Amino acid sequence: MATVDDIKEKLKSVSYPGFTKSIVDFGFVKNVEVNGNDVSVHLEITSSAPEVENSLKEDITKELKVLGLDNIQVVVKKPEAPKQQSNSVSGKNIAPQVANFVMVSSGKGGVGKSTTSVNIAVALAMQGKKVGLLDADIYGPNIPRMVGVDGQEPQLEGNKVIPFKAYGVEIMSMGSLVEQGQALMWRGAMVMKAITQLLQDIAWGKLDVLVIDMPPGTGDAQLTLAQSVPVAAGINVTTPQHVALDDSRRSLEMFSKLNIPVAGIIENMSGFVCPNCQTESDIFGSGTCEDLAKEYNTQVLASIPIEPSIRVGGDEGKPVVYFHPDSASGKRYLRAAEMLWENIQESNASGAISNESIQPTTNGVSACSTAAAPKSGCSH
Ligand SMILES: Nc1ncnc2c1ncn2[C@@H]1O[C@H](COP(=O)(O)OP(=O)(O)OP(=O)(O)O)[C@@H](O)[C@H]1O
Ligand SMILES: [Mg+2]
Repeated sequence: MATVDDIKEKLKSVSYPGFTKSIVDFGFVKNVEVNGNDVSVHLEITSSAPEVENSLKEDITKELKVLGLDNIQVVVKKPEAPKQQSNSVSGKNIAPQVANFVMVSSGKGGVGKSTTSVNIAVALAMQGKKVGLLDADIYGPNIPRMVGVDGQEPQLEGNKVIPFKAYGVEIMSMGSLVEQGQALMWRGAMVMKAITQLLQDIAWGKLDVLVIDMPPGTGDAQLTLAQSVPVAAGINVTTPQHVALDDSRRSLEMFSKLNIPVAGIIENMSGFVCPNCQTESDIFGSGTCEDLAKEYNTQVLASIPIEPSIRVGGDEGKPVVYFHPDSASGKRYLRAAEMLWENIQESNASGAISNESIQPTTNGVSACSTAAAPKSGCSH
């Protein structure tokens, strides 16, 4: 017959959803009672999300059944769900004049985040939205070149920096504010400060959407941004080869950990159409993102082929969606922008946008840093 110790040992195989650490290691198992084949497990967790509770109940039941227990009761104590505000967005927001923040991320570098951010932002502006584009890739800012504002000197209004304007979009980049190369050395606290300033010290107008181009990966910049403003939508950019998809999973899991609704995936460099003979070749493969989207209960917003005009557009500051809206890629960016906007409306309506649960728990310690892990439920 299983003892309390046997059960506690078995619970060490149940990891907290989205994390590698077990619920025992997090200190979430508060009590275990056994009476013959009846067992009750009492948990106290930090997430108010019903899916976390459901997934834990399922995993615990599965593990304990192995011990021959059949009447398994899991009692979960969790914090109250964040209260909905009138605009259905809750939590901290250091740039409240912006209605919706969109985070463009990828698991690895060079897959086309900046290209996507530029074309989606311009597409939204072409569709009549008030749009901003923030280059938060402080390690390698290249939005200024891609929209043709490189070399321009930023102007001040009071103590705030006025964003540049191009193609109907308000734009700012750390690349326009610091000497070239300087940003590459930034780490930790400086990254947090830089992200905060890009949101707070730029005179962003009253925007419908601020599209934010992130550095590659899942690090300090992503966490700081998500804690500073309630992000309405995450877009994952990936190329279609399987190694890139593995990295994408990390990026999609990050959205989930940061409580960011995923608007969808952009499959970039999906096939190559030869400009001379129009033959289509699958250089990196294509269509693989559909499966990834299904796995994460999301959608493919667009499959963008490798097109010389996209690269030239980036190098010359002439976004393809603006200059060639009727090209295959132009149309797909426009459609992706529409789908993104629909998704943002749905998330707003369902009250899913909140960064309350990922706020730092202790002064100076982030909710997702290792130090805070036992308290907050995050471990990366
Ligand atoms: N679909 C495409 N067709 C042709 N060229 C493309 C396409 N997408 C991106 N590129 C080009 O590939 C290069 C990398 O793209 P981009 O800078 O957008 O990637 P990134 O993910 O932002 O990179 P980083 O991680 O370095 O910030 C750029 O020169 C860009 O013009
Ligand atoms: Mg980039």
